[in-house]
Amino acid sequence: MAHQSAQLAPETHPPCYVFESPAEMARHVALLIAGIIRERNSLGRNAVLGLPTGSTPVSVYRELIRMHRDERLDFSRVVTFNLDEYCGVEPDQLQSYHRWMREHFFDHVNIPPQNIHIPDGMTPPEKVAAHCRRYEDAIREAGGIDVLLLGIGRNGHIGFNEPFSSPAGRTRLVTLDPITRKDAASDFFGEENVPTQAITMGLATILEARKVLLMALGEHKANIIRETVERPASDRIPASILQRHPDAEVLLDGAAAGELSGWATPWVTGAVKWNEPLIKRAVIWLCEQTGKALLKLDDEDFRTHGLHQLLRLHGPAQRLAHDVFQWMLNTIEYHPAGKEPKRVICFSPHPDDDVISMGGALIRLVEDGHEVHVAYMTSGNIAVFDHDARRIADLVTEYNRLFGIDLEKSRDVERTVVDALDSKHAGKSDVEHVRTIKGLIRWSEAKAAAMKVGCREEHLHFLDLPFYRTGTVAKNPVGEEDVAIIRGLIEEVQPQQIYVAGDLSDPHGTHRVCAEAIFRALWGMERDGKKTPEVLLYRGAWQEYDLHEIEIAVPLSPGDLLLKRKAIFMHESQKDEALFPGADPREFWQRAEDRNKGTADRYNQIGLPEYYAMEAFVRWKGTPI
Ligand code: F6R
Repeated sequence: MAHQSAQLAPETHPPCYVFESPAEMARHVALLIAGIIRERNSLGRNAVLGLPTGSTPVSVYRELIRMHRDERLDFSRVVTFNLDEYCGVEPDQLQSYHRWMREHFFDHVNIPPQNIHIPDGMTPPEKVAAHCRRYEDAIREAGGIDVLLLGIGRNGHIGFNEPFSSPAGRTRLVTLDPITRKDAASDFFGEENVPTQAITMGLATILEARKVLLMALGEHKANIIRETVERPASDRIPASILQRHPDAEVLLDGAAAGELSGWATPWVTGAVKWNEPLIKRAVIWLCEQTGKALLKLDDEDFRTHGLHQLLRLHGPAQRLAHDVFQWMLNTIEYHPAGKEPKRVICFSPHPDDDVISMGGALIRLVEDGHEVHVAYMTSGNIAVFDHDARRIADLVTEYNRLFGIDLEKSRDVERTVVDALDSKHAGKSDVEHVRTIKGLIRWSEAKAAAMKVGCREEHLHFLDLPFYRTGTVAKNPVGEEDVAIIRGLIEEVQPQQIYVAGDLSDPHGTHRVCAEAIFRALWGMERDGKKTPEVLLYRGAWQEYDLHEIEIAVPLSPGDLLLKRKAIFMHESQKDEALFPGADPREFWQRAEDRNKGTADRYNQIGLPEYYAMEAFVRWKGTPI
């Protein structure tokens, strides 16, 4: 039974439940696991869990740790089997799943060490087969897995069962798929450092678990989730094998459910309760289906596309189309903060999100005479190439030599940097000096870019939030210190409007964490009876809002877009080739332009004015995202 707040997406197999927020999903999963553990404890028996690593289960582990601490959930009879481990990665190495599990879960609960099982990635090749057989034996001897948690890769992998894995597969050595290695690149500071092999539980092992919960969060999982549950099972999508499992469930947030037809277009699968947002969605969808502009839709279009009910209740077509036309027209806003002078803050999770995602709006806000502040929340130092750090260390030393500035000291620093980089092992994090230089590179680029769009230097704030300062891609959860820094800035600047990156598909989760920190600061202010600003959400470099979601669309002229491009160019360390480009081969400025022109095109296709480009925003509704 899914948590009360979850809704069932119709007509999927296995059944999909959509939660209001990732936190709700985590709570549901943790409650279910806690229920099994408590029941077994009362019978004096073990509970056997199958566990994944990755960004998706992090909050489940956090909630279980909280239950252990606050509700005395006793893990002493819990036995665990992890899904997988990279080959050739020492258990203490930053990227090891052994280390990951200790840091995210095992170190914080009372599972006896002998009950914990994780494949050993350091097993010599000639012993791997025997090691895998023993792993299977251990699962059997433990009585089989009671509940197995799974994440899903963008290619549909579960565990490291990559596309075309055999359904009969058991725990074994596998070769990692190129997509998997690309997705892991940032954890290893570069794709070339990602191991080529791993040990994983097999699909047959997974199918034998008594209960399976597949979890997915974020827009970047929406496609693969649709393929997993709405298409016939196929070897190409390993997760689709769960269609055969008698007790599997798929747990999603709204973003990951976004492509399910039962969710995205519920009118296709059954009767729905019509309200304004749903009407907007359905009518815009109808434009896409028919290739027609809003004001050209007729009753017949509604009938032939299964929208009789909408037509009957809210029609005729002309009225529906006109309402949606008017709503969409009202989203177009040249002056997102109005014309009266205001103070605004754009919160930029990384040093380049401001100009990439809302460079055009920043240009307009400055032009409109507002006091525009930008708050850079993290240093972004991990995304700088080593060769750039060397070049800058060299440049600074040479500059100091030319001007006779404390040469000894500066040579010392350069030597430290060069030695550290020379002796750096693939996949290791940087020493403090190198991190500082990399952070300064991004600091200088952010300043240059913001000033290019007209912001003033004194209005740029580099918050360097503590949660990010781990030196690795894995970050700490938001802490009170992060929240206090943000609240301090809001109280100091007293903006009437703020902009927050509200996307969930940032692959490293930094945007999500930054948004959470800002929301917590705002909730704190509300609790203390303080006035809070209007909050607009923008999407980061990865994706744009759907047309029906957009509440404010800021039109950009060719000149605006060119200036925005030049501002993005200031981020030289991310240009031509970024350290963490993600799956998209385009550079950030290209993604931004395609996306902004694409939004304008979509407005035009439904019969609204023809703009050159547009940036899109939605209003924050006061809830977690
Ligand atoms: C990890 C594992 C993988 C991940 C999947 C999703 O132990 O087995 O299959 O579950 O790659 O990863 P995230 O959750 O990081 O998106």
